[in-house]
Amino acid sequence: MLIAGNWKMFKGAHEARQFATTIRHLPERLAEVDVVVCPPYPSLEATIAGLGESGVRVYAQSVHWELEGAFTGEVSAPMLLEIGVKGTLVGHSERRQHFGETNETVRLRAEAALEAGLEVIACVGETAEQREADETQDVLKRQVSVLPVHDRLVIAYEPVWAIGTGLTATPELAQEAHAFVKSLHDAPVLYGGSVKPENAASLLEQKDVDGALVGGASLDALDFEAICQAGQAAATSA
Ligand code: PGA
Repeated sequence: MLIAGNWKMFKGAHEARQFATTIRHLPERLAEVDVVVCPPYPSLEATIAGLGESGVRVYAQSVHWELEGAFTGEVSAPMLLEIGVKGTLVGHSERRQHFGETNETVRLRAEAALEAGLEVIACVGETAEQREADETQDVLKRQVSVLPVHDRLVIAYEPVWAIGTGLTATPELAQEAHAFVKSLHDAPVLYGGSVKPENAASLLEQKDVDGALVGGASLDALDFEAICQAGQAAATSA
């Protein structure tokens, strides 16, 4: 059971360090849950410092595919590894929607990150228009088919219409999409999109839901802990 918090463009270094000290105890109490947080780049080191010896792992939110070079605004896998970052998100829908990320660049980022030794959560998911046009399976096929098979790769199914909107996929709809993604690729699949303490248990209890990628609710320590606890409960009852 993996619960990952995506902080997006929230929590500067000072706030991130303080927050890290409040969540660092989580793995001691939740043995069945792998806890990950994804701070913005300038807060990575402060988060790692605040976590100390905690088992909470720190991931970046994206990574470039080259080791170094003239790529203004980008960060490479060796730079992340050097400061103790363990993994990275790739292909988040906000990167696809606002920053020109394509299935091809997602593939390049995922492959380079895995090759360098990082863990990867690769995000996939359909928009509202694609779901309405009955294109969900085709979209997922195209997004998943570019992802490498690797034991450090995890997929996050995040229907774009559920991200930050308060509209969560029903547990049945999430289960159906997860089963489909798993029929395409042999990797654990996290659910993402308005996961909150109130809906986490019903989502995480689904057979093919292996964890959650949490945005908004991961910014609050009590909410994030409650979701991690739901993960622990689902993992122990499975
Ligand atoms: P949300 O974001 O939980 O705020 O909907 C999820 C995500 O974007 O990963």
